[in-house]
Amino acid sequence: MNRLNGKVAIVTGASSGIGRATAKLFASEGAKLVVAARRQAELDSLVAEIAAAGGAAVALAGDVRSEDYAKALVGLAVARFGKLDIAFNNAGTLGEGGASTQVSEQGWNDTLATNLNSAFFGAKHQIPEIGKQGGGSIIFTSTFVGYSFAFPGTAAYAASKSALIGLTQALAAEFGPRGVRVNAILPGAVDTAMYRDMNDTAESQSFVTGLHALKRVATPEEIARSVLYLASDDSSFVTGTAALVDGGASITRS
Ligand SMILES: NC(=O)c1ccc[n+]([C@@H]2O[C@H](COP(=O)([O-])OP(=O)(O)OC[C@H]3O[C@@H](n4cnc5c(N)ncnc54)[C@H](OP(=O)(O)O)[C@@H]3O)[C@@H](O)[C@H]2O)c1
Repeated sequence: MNRLNGKVAIVTGASSGIGRATAKLFASEGAKLVVAARRQAELDSLVAEIAAAGGAAVALAGDVRSEDYAKALVGLAVARFGKLDIAFNNAGTLGEGGASTQVSEQGWNDTLATNLNSAFFGAKHQIPEIGKQGGGSIIFTSTFVGYSFAFPGTAAYAASKSALIGLTQALAAEFGPRGVRVNAILPGAVDTAMYRDMNDTAESQSFVTGLHALKRVATPEEIARSVLYLASDDSSFVTGTAALVDGGASITRS
């Protein structure tokens, strides 16, 4: 409890799945939150849930592909809560799948804009405010896909998510001297809307489950606890890492 007392955090992709679970955990640990995604109603219900549990959160709906939205989220954190310490840049999309030779220019660009450009624009506006506090923590949601595992038909997703690791390392090196830590979290499969969209048959779910040493997929709350570690002072000497939280998918061949 209280591991984020006095901290102010932005969480993107907070309307569902990993982002929503992380926002609730951060709030329960004492952070004041700006929560972000496109769906206003889902954000409003999250804010109400956090308030009912005694926490503080404010929502701003928008599209993470827009740099203006990234800037507005930081502005709201400062206007409402006076500062920014933590950003979980988590919003993402599987994007256009299927045979890679058939992926459209728009589908490719859209996937990179949602998963990669958003992370850069977020960090670009978050870092100056976090730097004013003498440091803090930025976390990007990457994935095991394109890092320790490859699935056919995921070229844009894998490319955008593995590029986040390079972004993590470059920003960690550049802003470490100012106390800004930057890490990527690489979940294995997690039981969210995205997972269920991709694996809509019992056969597919059984295949994906079997890829993990633990022979199950994660809950969003399990990933949230690892994000909390990276956000809090418990990880004060951790920066520039690609942190696998993958139930052993990367070491499993059976
Ligand atoms: N589930 C998995 O197995 C898994 C594994 C590894 C990594 N990940 C990553 O985990 C992150 C969260 O995904 P999830 O599994 O929790 O799925 P999810 O429940 O579908 O959540 C995706 C979130 O991203 C937001 N989002 C998507 N496009 C957006 C846009 N253009 N602007 C603003 N927000 C946008 C969605 O909100 P709105 O629709 O309301 O905008 C939603 O809150 C993603 O980056 C995903 O790639 C997932």
